[in-house]
Amino acid sequence: MTRTPNSLEARDIESVLHPATNFKRLNELGPLVLDRAKGVFVYDHQGRDYIEGMAGLWCTSLGYGVEEIADAARTQMLSFSYSHLFSAKSHEPAIELAEKLKALAPVKMGKVFFGCSGSDANDTQMKLLRYYNNAVGRPKKKTIISRKRGYHGVTLGSASLTGLPVQHALFDLPLDGVIHVSAPYYYRDAAPGETEAHYAARLAGELEQAILAEGPETVAGFIAEPLMGVGGVLPPPADYFKRVREICSKHEIVMIDDEVICGFGRTGSPFGATTFGMIPDTMTVAKAMSSAYAPISAVLVPDWLYEAMIEPSAANGSFGHGFTYGGHPVSCAVALKTLELMERWKIADHIADVGPHFQRRLRSFLDHPLVGDVRGVGLIGAIELVADKKSKAQFSPLGPLGLAVDRACVDEGLIIRPLGDTIAFCPPLVITKEEIDELFERFGRALATATKGAGR
Ligand SMILES: Cc1ncc(COP(=O)(O)O)c(C=O)c1O
Repeated sequence: MTRTPNSLEARDIESVLHPATNFKRLNELGPLVLDRAKGVFVYDHQGRDYIEGMAGLWCTSLGYGVEEIADAARTQMLSFSYSHLFSAKSHEPAIELAEKLKALAPVKMGKVFFGCSGSDANDTQMKLLRYYNNAVGRPKKKTIISRKRGYHGVTLGSASLTGLPVQHALFDLPLDGVIHVSAPYYYRDAAPGETEAHYAARLAGELEQAILAEGPETVAGFIAEPLMGVGGVLPPPADYFKRVREICSKHEIVMIDDEVICGFGRTGSPFGATTFGMIPDTMTVAKAMSSAYAPISAVLVPDWLYEAMIEPSAANGSFGHGFTYGGHPVSCAVALKTLELMERWKIADHIADVGPHFQRRLRSFLDHPLVGDVRGVGLIGAIELVADKKSKAQFSPLGPLGLAVDRACVDEGLIIRPLGDTIAFCPPLVITKEEIDELFERFGRALATATKGAGR
């Protein structure tokens, strides 16, 4: 990086502490400073365009520069810029959004609790299960089972649910009371010749063994993303959630559906749960719900969970949980407008139209000598790069090739996300077929450049 004094890059390095960043690499290469965006394109401060192949962080569902969403925010800011929901205060945008989310949910939900991020929403999920089990006289039932490779956030609780070493190392995590079972990773972990259904049964067996080893009377919840995002874009094998549901029901374990990436059409149906046959008890939603124009998340819970908390909330004076900005009226207004536009613009029909094209273009890379697996559904997908296609052997160390592809993509005007040597794609849901073609043209050139360095 050329360090022009006082450039945005130099000033960034001086002052910004970046999340999820390799600080050494940042200091060597500098940040990518972006400053405007329209549709699926973002532009750096020198004016270069990039296709946002990751919808930001899997979130800018309707793309950038949507005036109606900006208008909704402005109108709400001017009419009533802030109210909380503490101590029985309320406001119409929160009421309407709660009703809307209940109407959209794939299973009957009773109440909606608003947060500001996926992480705090999943912390809320953990706390609700503690509160609930204490309320119903099962104080030992507290452990939550999550999965290796799962991503549920970075606060102390949600980072504990997350099953990725980088979120645990040096933070002394996970906290007690969270255990992790195997991820559904058919390409890498299924036995040779094993069917998806058999693999799913094997994983369900492992889950049940973990429950029995802990003692079912101590296990409160099981949390899962329908399709794992950050852990490698891993769709579940057939029957997986059917099996898991049976086990959760058998042992009275609440099944938490983390829809933070999958929700609102991403996988080709309204929720990941509907795409993959998951019947959850509670849900976490965020990201696409507001197209990331404003931060908001929500936890949806059934009536039976809420009703058990009524008496204890009275006995203790209140339900002692909530965030200053939870259910912020501007965020609620933005989410309501986003959900309205998703319907008015027929986003579900659009995904049904362009999704197969996206998946075809993605799968065309399967012929590449370093591509071991290509997977995805709807408008999300990934390409896993391997050192040896036949043995599926990974590069050692894992990661430098992914970073090289990332760098080459930036040079070609494309933003992707390297997850180790797996390259993730998750463009805004409004992307057109022509833009999908352009995305994969840019990616193809970047892959060729990056893999030249890997000797192919
Ligand atoms: C499935 C899932 N859950 C939770 C989170 C955490 O959300 P946030 O970064 O808004 O805290 C993420 C973020 O990517 C996610 O992918």
